[in-house]
Amino acid sequence: MHSYRIAVIGAGYVGLTAAACLAALGHRVACADVDPAKLEMLERGETTLLEPGLAERVTTGLAAGRLRFVLGAAAAVTDAEVVFLCVPTPMAADGEADLAIVESVVAEIRDLLPPGCVLVEKSTVPVGTAARISDLLDRENIGVVSNPEFLREGSAVEDFLNPDRIVVGSDKPAAAERVAALYAGLGAPTVITDAASAEMVKYAANCFLATKLSYVNALAELCERLGANIVDVAEGMGYDRRIGTSFLRPGPGWGGSCLPKDTHALLAAAGAAGVDFDLLKAVIGTNFRQAGRIADKVAVACGLAPDAGLDGVRIGLLGLVFKADTNDLRSSPALAVAEELAARGAELAGYDPGLLACDPGGSAERTRLDDLMFLTDDPYLTAKDAQAVVVLTEWREFRTIDWRRMAGLLTKPVVVDTRNHLDRDVVELAGLSWTGVGIGTA
Ligand code: UGA
Repeated sequence: MHSYRIAVIGAGYVGLTAAACLAALGHRVACADVDPAKLEMLERGETTLLEPGLAERVTTGLAAGRLRFVLGAAAAVTDAEVVFLCVPTPMAADGEADLAIVESVVAEIRDLLPPGCVLVEKSTVPVGTAARISDLLDRENIGVVSNPEFLREGSAVEDFLNPDRIVVGSDKPAAAERVAALYAGLGAPTVITDAASAEMVKYAANCFLATKLSYVNALAELCERLGANIVDVAEGMGYDRRIGTSFLRPGPGWGGSCLPKDTHALLAAAGAAGVDFDLLKAVIGTNFRQAGRIADKVAVACGLAPDAGLDGVRIGLLGLVFKADTNDLRSSPALAVAEELAARGAELAGYDPGLLACDPGGSAERTRLDDLMFLTDDPYLTAKDAQAVVVLTEWREFRTIDWRRMAGLLTKPVVVDTRNHLDRDVVELAGLSWTGVGIGTA
């Protein structure tokens, strides 16, 4: 396989994973960021991202001389054959994706890109962005390609190196072929299309996943009312190959840095295009209501009315990040539930192994968390003098908690398991009452 000279702009989740994995595939990669402190850490093979296998790939790439880190985009692109844009595209106030960073990087590198180079957008960007970048560049000898990334946090390296598919879109076929060739070693099915369709695939996939999750969360509520069990219902649905078993686990709602942002962005894009996407509105609305529904469930498990005030009620929270094996609090459903419980008057203590292992700190979410609760470094301390513990993130270690010890610490032996994650029998045998989601009593 030909080894390309690649520049990756942005050392966040997507950029750093792409840089480290492209180096692992044999390419020579310069990864640029604007944060000198982050770059210093990376040069030592350390990252602030809790991501299995990533630090190791960075270290291997550095040692092999195939990966280097540079300050600023300009320093990375001058001899590149392919440049990946992996900079943030946050949600603007109107729900649309904010492209200010993408545009400023394009302006910075515009005159530095070598003729024949290919500029690839890997960040999730609205349909039409490749065309807009081409206009901003205004250079016939540069191909612009959309190559969306589908990796999940918590399994980013594994997803990058074993993708379900590669999607590449461009209005210049040779540029698209070059980007597809970078992944030749992975043996994944490759969809080569136009830029707008490639950009749309990313939104279409993430919004479909969100739809599946809101559907299963709504179905879980119905199962509770009608005496059915969502776990069995999901299994029964999932064996149908047209449906599939994944993304059918109900929970406290879906969050993270992608699904919430991308659903809002596609809805905003639909509105701007005059398309009434009511279905997506309902998907977002269902998720928005989920935190309140979980708070009602906690109140009922404590022997109160669903909408009762929780003044002075102490509640322990197990898991605060948006999903297990990460340290990411962005749009975490656990934080939304904590907000709701605190608004009803509850006093909160929380524990999360991801934040203990690696907490970059300083984020708005971390500040909010510290305002909302007392954060402990011991799961058992969350139960001390509390009326209930609530499992909000599916960390494996919660399955091995000593529930008898927990029961001894709680003033009421109540567990609310918002992910149906624990072994119910173990919890009940320890003398606690267990409430899951979507488990009705017929
Ligand atoms: C998501 C997509 O899954 C990736 O394919 C995509 O590349 C990425 O966004 C992105 O756009 O960058 P990620 O945000 O890492 O990945 O998280 P997911 O694994 O999709 O989980 C999203 C939320 O759904 C989490 O809060 C998770 O706990 C929840 N979830 C997931 C459930 O509640 N039940 C499930 O069965 C699955």
